[in-house]
Amino acid sequence: MLNTVVKQLLPALRMLASRENVLVARLDERESLQKAQLEEELRIHPFIEGEATILVVDETVDPDEIVADLEVKLSMWKEERSYYPDYVWIKDIGLVALAPNAAQLDEMLGKEASDYSISLGRLANKIAIVTGAAMGFGAGIAEMLFHEGANVVIADWNETEGGKMADLLNANVTGNRALFVKVDVSDAVSVEDMVSVTSRHFGGLDLIISNAGVLRAGSLEEMTPENFDFMTNVNYKGYFLCAKYASAVMKVQSKYRKEFFSDIIQINSKSGLKGSNKNFAYAGGKFGGIGLTQSFAMELMPYKIKVNSICPGNFFEGPLWSDPEKGLFVQYLKAGKVAGAKTIEDVKAFYEAQVPAGRGCRVTDVFRAILYIIEQEYETGQAVPVTGGQNMLN
Ligand SMILES: NC(=O)c1ccc[n+]([C@@H]2O[C@H](COP(=O)([O-])OP(=O)(O)OC[C@H]3O[C@@H](n4cnc5c(N)ncnc54)[C@H](O)[C@@H]3O)[C@@H](O)[C@H]2O)c1
Repeated sequence: MLNTVVKQLLPALRMLASRENVLVARLDERESLQKAQLEEELRIHPFIEGEATILVVDETVDPDEIVADLEVKLSMWKEERSYYPDYVWIKDIGLVALAPNAAQLDEMLGKEASDYSISLGRLANKIAIVTGAAMGFGAGIAEMLFHEGANVVIADWNETEGGKMADLLNANVTGNRALFVKVDVSDAVSVEDMVSVTSRHFGGLDLIISNAGVLRAGSLEEMTPENFDFMTNVNYKGYFLCAKYASAVMKVQSKYRKEFFSDIIQINSKSGLKGSNKNFAYAGGKFGGIGLTQSFAMELMPYKIKVNSICPGNFFEGPLWSDPEKGLFVQYLKAGKVAGAKTIEDVKAFYEAQVPAGRGCRVTDVFRAILYIIEQEYETGQAVPVTGGQNMLN
């Protein structure tokens, strides 16, 4: 029941109660909280000068009926007072706070108040999940989304690095917030849970970047069925699971705010556009990802959900290539893959020479494509290459 409430009711409430700018919402985590206790708290520490306002919804426990009831009560409330309530108390479920930004939600729900400024930026107060955001492209993308004002869920199976990343972002004095959520993108229950936690904490979901990916190269002789399954489950099935559970929340939002667009973006690869020698398990999963993107795009555009892939070229500065012990440059040098190469720099120069732009892909390059996709309302189902000219579309 709670799961349904979180995934249906909160996104609906967030849209219904929003003014010109879309609010964020949070379901109170304190299970013991009682309405009387809340009223007392608000009397002692009124969050808003004067009096904080609470709308009570208590007719039923069926989420659809609660939303219907809420719709009526919210418009009556607005008509009588000309402003919306700060809190909605839902019997048997709990308290939902509504605010212009996440820092204010922290304060309204009894967390220690911290300094914050109003979030500005091209993505101010949007709610985004980035999978695989503990390191590499994902970490860079999460950071840039955050600096454009978005609330960001750092979703990764690496708890230590993912937690550090969220703490780093939350050290900024801004109204938006980051949250770490542990996830295995190849596991349906885990992905569904990631979306629920996001909705419970921020009130909905406007953008998911399906970025988590793994690479184990190998020829047909070398590739084991186990390694093939492992890569396919993360790179291909993981994207399906993200789209499945994210779109459920996004659909609710579009139902209650007709012109509200949301985005599902897959970080694909140039290997999704052209075969990759002795690397078919990776390339096959990425090619498949573009098939999913095109098909999801057709299914979801009626709900104003755009679905696109971004196909970056090699991220030479990231850990996959540049890790001093396990990185591909070291591996290729040791394996003698580049004829005549004596140093890591020689190997790097060989790969850079294959790119007309003369360098590897950077997070900024990918982020510009992300902003284009989000801001463009008249495009979906695309695979956008960001390869410095290495791959050109037919
Ligand atoms: N590095 C490149 O040159 C390059 C080029 C083009 C595309 N890409 C794509 O970009 C994406 C990110 O690649 P990267 O190089 O930054 O990788 P990375 O290895 O640096 O980081 C990947 C992150 O994903 C996480 N992760 C892996 N499997 C997971 C799972 N099952 N559940 C949750 N988290 C998981 C890891 O913990 C890690 O934090 C991938 O989809 C990759 O295919 C990378």
